[in-house]
Formats: sequence, C-alpha cells, structure tokens
Amino acid sequence: MKRIGILTGGGDAPGLNAVIRAAVKTAINMYDCEVFGIRNGYDGFLELDGIVPLGMEEVRGILPRGGTILGAANRGNPYARKVMRDGVEITIDVSEEIVKGIKKLKLEALIVLGGDGTLHIAHELALKGVPIIGVPKTIDNDIGGTEITFGFDTALNIATEAIDRLHTTAESHHRAMVLELMGRDAGFIALQAGICGGADVILIPEIPFKFESIMAKIRERAEKGRKFSILAVSEGAKSQDGVQVFSREGDDIYVPRLGGIGQVVGEYIEKQGFESRVTVLGHLQRGGTPTAFDRSLATRFGAAAVRLAARSGFDRMVALQSGRVTDISLVDATAIPKRVKLEDDSVITARNVGISFGDE
Ligand code: F6P
Repeated sequence: MKRIGILTGGGDAPGLNAVIRAAVKTAINMYDCEVFGIRNGYDGFLELDGIVPLGMEEVRGILPRGGTILGAANRGNPYARKVMRDGVEITIDVSEEIVKGIKKLKLEALIVLGGDGTLHIAHELALKGVPIIGVPKTIDNDIGGTEITFGFDTALNIATEAIDRLHTTAESHHRAMVLELMGRDAGFIALQAGICGGADVILIPEIPFKFESIMAKIRERAEKGRKFSILAVSEGAKSQDGVQVFSREGDDIYVPRLGGIGQVVGEYIEKQGFESRVTVLGHLQRGGTPTAFDRSLATRFGAAAVRLAARSGFDRMVALQSGRVTDISLVDATAIPKRVKLEDDSVITARNVGISFGDE
C-alpha cells in the first residue's frame, strides 16, 4: 500500500481531525505510505486545488481541534450534484468523474469519514470498484453496527452543561425551560443529556408524546413545591397526533431541516399558565474541541481504518462493538439506522428515576 486518500463528508463532528491525524500517522509510521487529503468531501476530486498531500507536518497540533482541516460539504453527493448550465441550475451524476479522479491519483484506498449519507455513497462507489473504507461520524449517534460514533460524547457534554445552566435560572424564576437539541430522527443526545442533566421531561422522536402528559408532569412538580421544570426536547420529537416540525423544506440536495418543536412545546406550556422559555442549542453541539472520549475513539478509528485498508478490507466500515474496534460491511452498517429503543436500559432507567417521556 503506497498511496491512500482521506475525505470528510456531510456535516462536521468533533473528532474528525483526530481521525485524520491518526490515519496519517499510522499510514506513514506503519506502512511508509503517502496520504492525500480530499477537500470538501467528494467535491475535492472535481476541484482544481481539491487534493492536498498530508504528512506529519500537516497533522501536527490538530488532535484537539474541532471541525475538519479538509472541509466538509453537505451538498457533496456525486450522484446528485447541482451545477449551473446556461444560467440554469441542473442536477448531474458525477460519480464516474470521482472514480476517474481516484484512479488518476493511483489511490489504493480511500478512507471516507461520514454519516449515513456519506457512507451510502461510499458503498455505491465501492460497487464501482473504488477501494473504500468507511469511518462512522456523527453527533447524532444514529449509525448502525457501531455502539457509538465519535462526536456524540462531545455533543452530549455540551448539552448536559446547557441543562445544568438552565437549571439554576429555571429555579430562580420558577419557569419551565425547554432545551431543543439536535439528533435528527434519533433521540440519543436528548435522552442522555436529559438523564445526565436531571431533566424532568425528555421528548424524543422514538417516543411520540402527548401535550397533556407533559403538563401533568409540570403540574405534579408544582404541587410538590417544585415550581420549575426542565425539558430536554429532541429536534425530531413529535406529538402522538402530530408531525415533526421543520424550519426548512428539503429538496433534491438538502434533507428537510428539523427545528421548532421546542418553541411549539414552550408555547403550549405558556398557554396552560406556566411561564416558559425556549433555548435552541443548535450548532454549539457540533463545534469546538472534542472530549477525551471522542479523541480516543477517533484516534482508534483512524488507525484501524488504515490497518483495514492494508488488508484490503474494502467496502467496510470500522465500528465499536462490545468496547472493541472491529469492522463491518458498509451494507450492514447503512441498512438500518440506529434508534433509541423503548426497551433500552437508558429509557427504563430514566423512567425509574421519575423522568417523563410525555407518553403516559
Ligand atoms: O447530523 C448532524 C446534525 O447536526 C443534526 O443533528 C442536525 O439536524 C443537522 O446535522 C444540522 O445540519 P446543518 O449543519 O446542515 O444545519
């Protein structure tokens, strides 16, 4: 193995740079291999300055840095790339150009760091003969086949700190504080942050809620003299007779953008006579330095991806299972997205300690 490429696709997540660093160091130290970074996801293969050599010098000091030194691209689907032709925006398939770019660079492996979408594309490219290795990344923790993705722990810590901060002001002002958290259709961030921050109500997409159940919890607390409440609300949560709330519609490039359910819940609480405030934590969950856990997992994933490439384990993804780094096929990894299950120990535990999911 003499030349490998590495790219970061989709949204960023804390730990991407730690993976890049570990992959470059492992490739050079263990295999005396050249590494090329592809800028802005798959787009780098189509851009003039889209390919950059990555050596020890380029990865020095990036372990604690958030974001990605390679840049990411949410619109980077090579099977549906938007371009302007004669003043009109059209969608074209540039996957063959990507394959040619990989061949031209003589890459013997392409390590792709990404979430669901990027990994799906990775598998499609593998079917075209591209020697692809996947590395699962997302703060949402919704990728199948791996217990956890890097980025999640950092997002969870930020969300937990936010709940801690809301607690003190909620208590002072006797308010119901609603915190809307990311996660798309998976409720892992809200569930764990709610448990870690001692929320009273957790609303997640996997457990549709009833507005009246939320109020029952808030009233029950008020009757016991606890005149404030904390609600951790996943952006994908929805009521039993309602639908998810979006701040922007989707199109053939962008998935619909979730957002607004926190406001809906907060307004309902106010209408019931309880003062409420809504905080949307947003991209603070994705930015900044990764936690020690994420740095460790990202480093293990980066090194493992290069070892997997060296033994030609293509069309596969590194994964954490039972605490050990292993690998699984990209087909299996992307077949069923991971979701919170009602029977998960964390859900049962949350109920045991008196947290309401708004469903009873
Ligand atoms: O998938 C990661 C994530 O942060 C989601 O939790 C969130 O819904 C989405 O990306 C936000 O995407 P964007 O960066 O395009 O606003």
